[in-house]
Amino acid sequence: MPLRSATWRRIPWSSHGMTIDLEPLEEIPLILKQIPVAGDRNFGYLLLSGGEAAIVDPGEDPSGLLRALDASAARLRWVIGTHGHADHLCGLPLIPKGDWRLVLSRNAGQPADLCPEDQERLALGGEEIQLLPTPGHTPCSHCLLVPGETGEPGHVLTGDTLFVGKIGGTATEEQARTQYDSLHKVLLALPAETRVWPGHDVGVRPFSSIGQEARENPFLLQADFAAFLHLKQNWAAYKKEHGIA
Ligand SMILES: [Fe+2]
Repeated sequence: MPLRSATWRRIPWSSHGMTIDLEPLEEIPLILKQIPVAGDRNFGYLLLSGGEAAIVDPGEDPSGLLRALDASAARLRWVIGTHGHADHLCGLPLIPKGDWRLVLSRNAGQPADLCPEDQERLALGGEEIQLLPTPGHTPCSHCLLVPGETGEPGHVLTGDTLFVGKIGGTATEEQARTQYDSLHKVLLALPAETRVWPGHDVGVRPFSSIGQEARENPFLLQADFAAFLHLKQNWAAYKKEHGIA
């Protein structure tokens, strides 16, 4: 059953401005929490539904995620890495042992309990999390899609594939080409209203939407791959010219 995101309400920023909670109205079973997990302004996520929980990208310091998990009294079922980089996963040993399963792409370079195949879905409290392969930043990158109710926007956790106003780095032209295809063929193919929840807090706001990124993200505004690659190769100068932090 899809998430009933249309009935979520936005809870204001906490006083230190670092946590957003999306909490459901009383009859709605799913909660998404975006929580800083140290590193380079990394965001981790806690998904709660039907008494079950999933942690996404525990980061260097998952203590905030674990406090939220404890407060929920939910059973941790999944720990999911959006990709294999250490700043997203090095806090794994700090997650108490239990019957949860680690989910990483087959290309992540480290063992996992479950390596999803293309478009695999994970059950969570009767809801579903869909894993969308989006290689480029790394060969193992994937995004997590949490669909909304019919006619309502879903949510996509984008790791280091797409940030608010920026994208993840690549080392080679081949990787940049792969990333370009993932951005255009996978993420931009999602409904414009889909909420974007990034792996780092590096934008002007902590979350966005596919439509907003399509309109504003300079990397998504490039006319073709050559222009996209040119921007990647000249990003420092572009940022300076446009006053981007
Ligand atoms: Fe990364």
